[in-house]
Amino acid sequence: MTSRPQPRPGVLDIAPYVPGKSSAPGVAKVFKLSSNETPLGPSPKAIEAYRAVGAHLEDYPDGAAGDLREAIGAAFGLDPARIICGAGSDDLLNLIARTYLADGDEAIHTTHGFLVYPIATRGTGAKPVVAAEMDYTADVDAILAAVTPRTKVVFLANPNNPTGTYISFEEVKRLHAGLPPHVLLVLDAAYAEYVRRNDYEAGIELVSNSQNVVMTRTFSKIHGLGGVRLGWAYAPAHVVDALNRVRGPFNVNAAAIEAGVAAMRDRAHVEHTVAHNEQWLAWLTEELTRLGLRVTPSVGNFILIHFPEDGKHSAAAADDYLGERGYILRRVAGYGFPNALRMTVGTEEANRGVVAALTEFLKS
Ligand SMILES: Cc1ncc(COP(=O)(O)O)c(C=O)c1O
Repeated sequence: MTSRPQPRPGVLDIAPYVPGKSSAPGVAKVFKLSSNETPLGPSPKAIEAYRAVGAHLEDYPDGAAGDLREAIGAAFGLDPARIICGAGSDDLLNLIARTYLADGDEAIHTTHGFLVYPIATRGTGAKPVVAAEMDYTADVDAILAAVTPRTKVVFLANPNNPTGTYISFEEVKRLHAGLPPHVLLVLDAAYAEYVRRNDYEAGIELVSNSQNVVMTRTFSKIHGLGGVRLGWAYAPAHVVDALNRVRGPFNVNAAAIEAGVAAMRDRAHVEHTVAHNEQWLAWLTEELTRLGLRVTPSVGNFILIHFPEDGKHSAAAADDYLGERGYILRRVAGYGFPNALRMTVGTEEANRGVVAALTEFLKS
């Protein structure tokens, strides 16, 4: 007997998720480059659709998010019945964990994988199992070697956050082929739109042709709708059915649905955002390397910058220096990178500003 209610086993082992900082006290102009948000904002049509919902806040949303699933289905050529929406892909990742994991089960993720995976796993009482990476990249052989009779789910961010690395579709298929059929492979493709590589696939084909693969996507990154919380998953019919039984009946709000439909239809805005990222990701990689900093080659909308081990020019010192000048990057010690910062690709002004500030910092 205890004197107060106790959370289920595993809950108090959770290290709470720490979001990116958003303010720099005392600085007039702040550039938030800590949460992989798009510097170009959402489609103006999405903003307009969002505002229009304000006239009818008394109405419940469509719990099935039918229009949104139709819009996603039309954009990707998918059956809307095999799409499920959530309040951000976080919601869907948690929903998957709650639906497929229980006490004593195991879920695999990679060393520097997205921190929501162990949180979602522990929240169910299951155990997160870490598979080693190779060159900061998911290693299919290590993931397969980590599978035990208790494994129920494999979470793979492709591309991964915070490393920005990815594995090819051939490798994803090899991973799938090596997994027992009862293990659910979750392909988290939050940054898929940004990837410009011929050997990359988000996973649609694999979901379509198998019974144990789910692909999750988000409106928070390329669509610039992080604030409304919207994500979606494409899954086999039996998985959609199970997830629909567990999810909250109105887990996506009305404003998110309308903004999402408009964003999904505005392909020009997506293309413009991708082009901006392509240009400035390459520029940042080149300029930061030129400064003598090591950067992990990224295919996302962010870049992992490793700092010298001399103490004076550490990631913590760089973070302070940049913060005093209004540039907020992300500390990634919690991801196992105590001496690196993750920078989101920003506006031209922000990108040039960070490179100029780091040039001075490294001279100091
Ligand atoms: C790899 C990855 N997956 C999922 C998410 C969650 O995005 P959201 O819950 O905003 O859809 C993020 C956000 O940072 C991410 O980096």
